[in-house]
Amino acid sequence: MRIFIDSANENEIRYLLRQGIVDGVTTNPTIMLKDGVHDLEAAAKRLCTLLGDRPVSVEVTSNDHEKMLEQARTFATWGRNVVVKIPVVNEFGESSLDVINELTSEAIAVNATAILSFNQAVLATKAGATYVSIFAGRIADEGNDPTLTIRNVRSWLNEWDYSAKIIVGSMRTAIDIQNAALAGAHIVTVPPPFFTKMIDHKYTRDTVRQFNRDAEKALQEIASAQATSVRSGNGK
Ligand code: E4P
Repeated sequence: MRIFIDSANENEIRYLLRQGIVDGVTTNPTIMLKDGVHDLEAAAKRLCTLLGDRPVSVEVTSNDHEKMLEQARTFATWGRNVVVKIPVVNEFGESSLDVINELTSEAIAVNATAILSFNQAVLATKAGATYVSIFAGRIADEGNDPTLTIRNVRSWLNEWDYSAKIIVGSMRTAIDIQNAALAGAHIVTVPPPFFTKMIDHKYTRDTVRQFNRDAEKALQEIASAQATSVRSGNGK
């Protein structure tokens, strides 16, 4: 399974890259706003450079299909690792599958986003999306079980041999990451603050503290045994 970072915060991404766990980055207009991005092009280009060959998803910002296409074609020139995020429908419920299909035919990688149902994932895959982004937290917000959707989409992709990859995003708690991973996500996209929750554990700290204390005691015992041995003339 791959891990993407759901963020545009370069310092946090840099830190996580050093941890060796980053396979890509996803952003959206809300993330850009939260992370203080005012120049989309400059920020996206910096992220693309930072990530090297790893994919960076950048989302279109229009309801209009012509504008989506225009933005997507521009984004695609910002880096060879750019993936264009296209919401499966616009805010009026109009299908964006034609946009996904057209961009795919132009060899522009598409992340079909804001997916909340099995059927949306199926259609986005059929239209040619490279990634289908299932929003687990938002599915759960509506009272439904995201693991069911993830598991069903994964089985269907396997069954029919599609190459689209499931990205699970919209994380709300650390357990969502585990649930998505075990339900069959190819990729989980995680906001940086979750990494502390994932890696740190109070009892691990206590365990390491105990080891360090005992190592210190052991060193003292070795030193005093050596001193005794030297005094008794056995140290020569
Ligand atoms: C994923 O690609 C999206 O950027 C993100 O996870 C959406 O999450 P939200 O529901 O917290 O906005």
